[in-house]
Order: sequence, then structure tokens, then C-alpha cells
Amino acid sequence: MPISIKSSREIELMAEAGRILEKVHLELGKALHPGMSTLDIDRLGKKLIEGYGCIPSFLNYNGYPASICVSVNEEVVHGIPSRHRIIKEGDIVSLDAGVIYKGYHSDAARTHAIGKVSKEAEDLIKVTRECFFEGIKYAKEGNHLFDISRAIGRYASERGYGVVRDLCGHGVGTALHEAPEIPNYEVPRKGVKLRAGMTLAIEPMINIGGWEVDWLDDDWTVVSRDRTLSAHYENTIVITDGEPRILSASLDGSK
Ligand code: MF3
Ligand code: CO
Repeated sequence: MPISIKSSREIELMAEAGRILEKVHLELGKALHPGMSTLDIDRLGKKLIEGYGCIPSFLNYNGYPASICVSVNEEVVHGIPSRHRIIKEGDIVSLDAGVIYKGYHSDAARTHAIGKVSKEAEDLIKVTRECFFEGIKYAKEGNHLFDISRAIGRYASERGYGVVRDLCGHGVGTALHEAPEIPNYEVPRKGVKLRAGMTLAIEPMINIGGWEVDWLDDDWTVVSRDRTLSAHYENTIVITDGEPRILSASLDGSK
């Protein structure tokens, strides 16, 4: 599949989708508290997304049964919300969400600490977010796609973390997953040349321990094989002729 180049009209629609998704994440982050079920988080997320006039893009995607992926502790991504799963102080909770606004998608994830967490957990969340920002330093017209991959992978590996290899970032636009696939680890190839108008979801998934993962019996939930903590951070960005524009993190400077 060729990589689509978005027009400025399309980019502005994706920017609006991104602003809405960022607000959803900020509101979900504020609402998180011990005693809440992961299904409560999903219900609130769906309500917020629909309240902004958007469609939750994950709902029914390849049969996924919810609007928000809620992945706790050793869960890497795609945790299925459940009323039986109660979050507690000390947990780390990754929330991944997608919205469709006027036919255009935005995809973003954040990992939150619930109350006081261990130093290891705090560092993992911080480094995972930093991996994203390290990667997008290379998200410039004329660079190659795997420059981003290499930067992310090295940043995490040099700090002793396991970089998940079985899942990747991706192009995003009129579909949730478009070409190209964006690994979070170093590959010995260059990848396509980046061009202004490419819209990408860059999403490091980082484990405290090994990089290996397993799928649980529900065939969705991905967990670290050694069951150590895992974090996820993702934004939808657009390549420009200068610095990349982060479409799903434009409101909150700290994000
Ligand atoms: N953000 C997730 C990804 O890019 C999308 C999950 S789709 C779902 O892999 F169906 F699992 F929700
Ligand atoms: Co994604």
C-alpha cells in the first residue's frame, strides 16, 4: 500500500480529531482513581468521545469489544475493559483511544500512575514518553522512516528496557491503520523517505524486563512474557517541511 499524503484540508480535520482526542485523554487521566473498574474507564471514554461528536474508532474494530484499550501493569496494550478489573493505588494504567472526526482518525495513548507508584514504574512511564519525543526528532521531510525506529529503540535499550517488537506504530488517516508500519526498534534498512503530509501514529511500547510478549486467551490482551511492567505512549503526528506537528498533543505543553 502506498503512503497517502494528506492535503492541508485533511490535516486540519486530523488536527481537530487530535485536539478532541487529547481532551478525552486529559479528562480520562483526571477521572482515574483507585476502586474504579476498567469498564468504568471505557464507559466514560465512550461518553466523552461521543460528546465531542466523534466515533470511538476502536469499538468493533476487528471485533474489539470496547472504545478504550485499558492495559494495567504487565499488560502492554489492548487490555479489554472489564467490570471485574479494579484499579488500585500503585498500578500503572495505559489508556489507548482513537476517535473519528468527519471521517478522519486520531490515535493516541498515555500511561498513568495511580497514586503513588514505585520508582521503577515512574521511570518506565517517563522513559516511554521520552522515547516518543526522541523518535520524532527524526520525523522530518527527507529523513527515512527507520531513523525514527532506530532513535526510539536505542533510547530505550540504552536504558536497559525491553522494546516490544511484535507491535508497531503505523500510518493513520481515513483508516485507523494505514501504511507504513513503524517499528520501535532498530532495523538494518532505511525505510521510505519521509514527506510532508504523511500522518503517522508513533507508539513506543516499552517493558521493564524482556521485549517478548504473549497474547492472553482473549486473543487481544498483550502482556510482557516475564510479566514485568509495561508502558505505552502514542501520538498522531504529521510530517511537515520543518518540525513535525503533534496533532494529538497540542493543548497541553507538558504532554
Ligand atoms: N492504537 C491501537 C493500535 O494502533 C489500536 C487498537 S485497535 C483495538 O494498535 F481494536 F484494539 F482497539
Ligand atoms: Co496506534
